[in-house]
Amino acid sequence: MIALPDFPWDSLAGAKATANAHPGGVVDLSVGTPVDPVAPAIRDALASVSEIPGYPQTHGTPALRAAAVEALRRRHGVTGLEPDAVLPTIGSKELVAWLPKLLGIGPGDTVVIPELAYPTYEVGVLLAGASVLRSDSLFALGPQRPAMIWLNSPSNPTGRVLGPDHLRKVVEWARERDVLVASDECYLTLGWEGEPLSILHPSVNDGSVTGLLALHSLSKSANLASYRAGFVTGDPAVVARLLEVRKHAGMIMPRPVQEAMTVALAGDDVLGTQRERYLRRRTVLQKALQGNGFHIDHSEAGLYLWATRGEDAWQTVDWLAERGILVAPGTFYGPKGGKHVRVALTATDERVEAAAERLAR
Ligand SMILES: Cc1ncc(COP(=O)(O)O)c(C=O)c1O
Repeated sequence: MIALPDFPWDSLAGAKATANAHPGGVVDLSVGTPVDPVAPAIRDALASVSEIPGYPQTHGTPALRAAAVEALRRRHGVTGLEPDAVLPTIGSKELVAWLPKLLGIGPGDTVVIPELAYPTYEVGVLLAGASVLRSDSLFALGPQRPAMIWLNSPSNPTGRVLGPDHLRKVVEWARERDVLVASDECYLTLGWEGEPLSILHPSVNDGSVTGLLALHSLSKSANLASYRAGFVTGDPAVVARLLEVRKHAGMIMPRPVQEAMTVALAGDDVLGTQRERYLRRRTVLQKALQGNGFHIDHSEAGLYLWATRGEDAWQTVDWLAERGILVAPGTFYGPKGGKHVRVALTATDERVEAAAERLAR
């Protein structure tokens, strides 16, 4: 068996029991799972092909690939992508977990992940048998040449957005050394203060996507976490290699989900409605936390508030749990998260108001 870290959320059981016992019910802000219903047009699309019995294409339908390219152009100004360089993934978590392995990265290789990061980047590196290096500064690496660099902007957990200069420097640095950059952009549609940029934007890469991959997810932007819908795109040669391996390995998005995803990518209404909901919840929670002495760092985009009371993260988790509010300690995301908690915006308006009320007491 491959040795992996303990699943972080299991260690929240104690705080969860405390929060669940609150007479007003728990407000669970510990995970970024959507709570608003899937839009009718997307559900109809899912059902519309449910009679098809045959195996779906690993590469997805041509309509899906075209819709992904068009959505990236329309929403994020990404140009010059080939539809064939789009590959559907079964949500983005599976690709985060398997990308190093699928690329042939292994023992002796190093993969750079952000200092504070979604835990699955580390898991993916360990599954490949490679070594993890946590760093936000490539200059700190010295002469080392990693096999791959993960970026995540807007970040989970901090909500930090990497600006164009930062992204350009990473791309230049990686190109000089022939290092692949994988950019996890699952929160790209959720910019609150400023506009997050894709690594595939021409202002970042001078119009060349060589050596670059971007991972996208419909879980947060279109409430499709339960459908498992994402895609990867970028360097056509790298995507072609991934396609080959994934065909062998059976990593195929179900056909009904391909149809649902095509519809979700074709328009922006669902995304707009969802953004408004999250913005409202963000405003309420931000005000309530700040009013109670919390300091919020970064959090300019994405689905979380990165909050601190200047004490140990677990103390804050317990303090909030006593008020029936469940959050994740920053230590889930790396040793540097020891004084922060991550507060998700993914609860209903009613639950978010209940949390604000409890914090105001
Ligand atoms: C940074 C990041 N990447 C990837 C994922 C995976 O999302 P999904 O598998 O639903 O696309 C998440 C989920 O929370 C995430 O926070």
